[in-house]
Amino acid sequence: MAFAQCMTKRMLSSTAVRKAIKDVTVIGGGLMGSGIAQVTASAGINVTLVDMNDEILNKSSASIKKSLDRVAKKKFSDNPQGGESFVSDIVGRIKYSSDALESVKSTDLVVEAIVENLDVKQKLFASLDKVAPRETIFTSNTSSIPIKDIAKATQRLDRFGGLHFFNPVPMMKLLEVIRIPETTDETFNALLEYGAAVGKTTVNCKDTPGFIVNRLLVPYVAEAVRMLERGDASAKDIDTAMKLGASYPMGPFELSDYIGLDTMKFILDGWSKNYPDIELFRPSELLNKLVAEGHLGRKTGKGFYEY
Ligand code: 3HC
Repeated sequence: MAFAQCMTKRMLSSTAVRKAIKDVTVIGGGLMGSGIAQVTASAGINVTLVDMNDEILNKSSASIKKSLDRVAKKKFSDNPQGGESFVSDIVGRIKYSSDALESVKSTDLVVEAIVENLDVKQKLFASLDKVAPRETIFTSNTSSIPIKDIAKATQRLDRFGGLHFFNPVPMMKLLEVIRIPETTDETFNALLEYGAAVGKTTVNCKDTPGFIVNRLLVPYVAEAVRMLERGDASAKDIDTAMKLGASYPMGPFELSDYIGLDTMKFILDGWSKNYPDIELFRPSELLNKLVAEGHLGRKTGKGFYEY
């Protein structure tokens, strides 16, 4: 009885100390960062979206507005005025800044979605660590770099985790929440609560390469590219096969063009270097060639397909 009372008291006090996440700083105004800022603001949470300059931030703001307009068109199909105030409410909760250090001085959660480069991420977090409040939680949306390697640059391993969103963030319902051995239960629970608040179904995963989805998806896409390289089937037929035979919304080549061939290549290069014995992580010549030619998928107008 005494033990149970003591546990209840401890559980209550841990809930009481945990501060709800009310202010989020998203670093990186690309497709993922903009989507994360959008869903966070849609949940009634104040967001600051940070990137290097106004030109990038203006693009982020335009892409958020475009996506919110699409959501509003569906949600308020018979009430355009309601749709307009829905969009302006959400837009009003997003601030834009090119000063990361200033932005994290009073934030509850940092979500980093910058370039997939360990050095750059470590430098960013090391500098944020010096100015952010002790209780601020740091997270990375990395698709392939171990969270622990990024977290090592800070003194807050207990308040560090991974939040891996999927593209397009406003549509994809999943959020992978990753903990490293040092992540406290309090931090992890706060991340799960944030995930639920932004409308995502969360799954828990250890800090393993690719977490759950990319560990399965990237080798699958790489296998499809190898099929094409061998001439087993055309890209179009492989895509049709996976859409109609396995009910995937996009085939592997459409998906690669959507994600970006540079991202696919970057993930495979990193994994094949770190895990040379895993056959499934082998780099692909065709992917390397397309990226070298600047054909990165939809964003450049050409990848496996032309747009
Ligand atoms: N914002 C808001 N609404 C959107 C949207 C966005 N970005 N994208 C789609 N929609 C909504 C709109 O209402 C749209 O209707 P509209 O065109 O009239 O505005 C409606 O969805 C239908 O969209 P589309 O006609 O463009 O096409 P689909 O019905 O095929 O849906 C899709 C698009 C949701 C992207 C679907 O094709 C899909 O689920 N594809 C697979 C995506 C996937 O697997 N993502 C994961 C990639 S892996 C990853 O991200 C991890 C990383 O680490 C690499």
